Amino acid sequence: MTLEEQLKKMQRDWDQRALENARHWVNTEREEWTDDEFFRSGQRTVEEEILTDMINICQGKDPKRMKVLEIGCGAGRVTRALADLFGEVWAVDVSREMIRQAGTALAAYANVRLIQNNGMDLSAIAGDGTFDFAFSSIVFQHIPSREVIENYVHEVSRLLAPGALFKFQVQGDRSLETSPGDTWLGVAFSDEEAVGMAGRCGFEPRYRHGAGEQYFWLWFFKKP
Ligand SMILES: C[S@@+](CC[C@H](N)C(=O)[O-])C[C@H]1O[C@@H](n2cnc3c(N)ncnc32)[C@H](O)[C@@H]1O
Repeated sequence: MTLEEQLKKMQRDWDQRALENARHWVNTEREEWTDDEFFRSGQRTVEEEILTDMINICQGKDPKRMKVLEIGCGAGRVTRALADLFGEVWAVDVSREMIRQAGTALAAYANVRLIQNNGMDLSAIAGDGTFDFAFSSIVFQHIPSREVIENYVHEVSRLLAPGALFKFQVQGDRSLETSPGDTWLGVAFSDEEAVGMAGRCGFEPRYRHGAGEQYFWLWFFKKP
């Protein structure tokens, strides 16, 4: 399968999931979500992964003055909680339909920019070195291409200010990998592979948690 075919398939599969039941495919804990429950689950992600980690994330900056990036925003579940906390949120997703639904849900948020991208880069976003923090959760675990994930890490490195953090989750369990056409179970990274990727993309992989598990979290700090 070529890279181009993989990108088309990611877009097609995620658009289909979004049209069928976006909120379920974004968070499979439930089949049906009320607005309240769905966005509360996004707040929980922010409480667990961000509010517990403000020293690494803000590094002394006022969150209301920070510009942050989210990769794979889906229907805006976490994006909304990010927008309540930070000054400016830029969010991308490969699925046009996910972005449409996120746009409806976040219409009242003037500090959010939503962008449908090509599933591989952030060329739609200018401002090299101007982002203060980047975040991605339950997105890379679905991407079946190592090349695509590493390209995102390169792109985030371009956009982050020196010293800023990219906190993200990849799939760490090799037994879950299937095939290059599977847009649900993506490629796995070992700890060594994650460290290698950080080095090639200009990051210091300062902390890692969950190597070998489905939720393998990485704290990559942009090298000065
Ligand atoms: C399980 S959902 C999670 C959404 C959001 N991160 C959340 O936690 O609510 C995965 C999202 O990743 C997006 N996605 C999958 N592959 C992508 C890619 N290559 N580039 C950008 N977004 C992608 C999907 O369209 C989907 O919205």
